[in-house]
Amino acid sequence: TKRVAIFLSGGGSNMRALVEDMTGDHPARPCLVFSNRADAGGIAWARDRGIPTEVVDHRPFKGDRPAFEAEISARIAPHGPDIICLAGFMRQLTGGFTDLWTGRMINIHPSLLPKYKGLHTHARVLEAGDALHGCTVHEVTAALDDGPILGQATLKVAEGDTPDTLAARVLKLEHRLYPAVLRRFVAGDRTPVLIEG
Ligand code: GAR
Repeated sequence: TKRVAIFLSGGGSNMRALVEDMTGDHPARPCLVFSNRADAGGIAWARDRGIPTEVVDHRPFKGDRPAFEAEISARIAPHGPDIICLAGFMRQLTGGFTDLWTGRMINIHPSLLPKYKGLHTHARVLEAGDALHGCTVHEVTAALDDGPILGQATLKVAEGDTPDTLAARVLKLEHRLYPAVLRRFVAGDRTPVLIEG
């Protein structure tokens, strides 16, 4: 059974979708929920369910990302993760960390990569007038929102969509896409998952 650590900074709805899928005959189990924020909703949810949690606040490190990442490594190591899933983890990781996890760390991003890396993806889709939007799960490399694509889910942008309506619809797709990709990834299958929402 593979051990999965999930990193988040907020509500953790993607983490919940992953955890709820990792039961029964699933070849992985959650071993840790990690956050840079003690008040992240996902930390409370995990703790209530008896899933181990760890928090390393990034702020005292004052931008010393290697020191922040060394502390993350020290705190996750005792939990023995085989795979890290970033799920709304809002700190950029340097090559010093990502290189330790090459081929073993994946991320979900709310756009159809390679379009719209970074923040404010939904507003940027509307500004560009795109007909299609969605989300992507990819392997994490040192470059932001880059790395081999493991799955995408698409939706059609509708008349009257706002950044908020798009965010809500994309998030629902994320909850379908991420567990589907993780199942394949755990089995060593990197064939992209494609979902039309
Ligand atoms: C999700 O939409 C995720 O794709 C996005 O943050 C949200 C987290 O929601 N991630 C990023 O923007 C990463 N740069 P959640 O906490 O409910 O899973």
